[in-house]
Amino acid sequence: MAYIEWNEDLSVGVDLFNEDHKRLFEYINRLHQGMVTGLGTSSMTDILNGLVDYTMTHFDNEERMMIQHTYAGYEAHKKEHDTLVARVADFQTQLNSGRGSFSLALMGFLKDWLINHIMGTDLKYKDFFLEKGVK
Ligand code: FEO
Repeated sequence: MAYIEWNEDLSVGVDLFNEDHKRLFEYINRLHQGMVTGLGTSSMTDILNGLVDYTMTHFDNEERMMIQHTYAGYEAHKKEHDTLVARVADFQTQLNSGRGSFSLALMGFLKDWLINHIMGTDLKYKDFFLEKGVK
């Protein structure tokens, strides 16, 4: 069983964003799998970098759509995105300087953050984009 699994309760109603979320889940699963099987730091770092790159892409996708449709919750939503990016960038810095390591605590943080963000924040735009005809 995967460490983190997407299900319909997590659907935000926009296909592109659902696909983005599924892909982010895949990255977290790959990281978790790598951690429990003892994958080397270099390969783990590659996966983490992939996760970070795709997270930025996804955040850009959402933010662009919010701006395009003048979504009222844009500023608060972007702030959450920026906070996560800063935290992960901080972890990357620690890792690159040899002060950080992959841990179950990190996996738990990423998993909880993503699920809580989708359920608590992304889902707020579901009806808004539906009304705008964005699918
Ligand atoms: Fe799907 Fe706001 O991240």
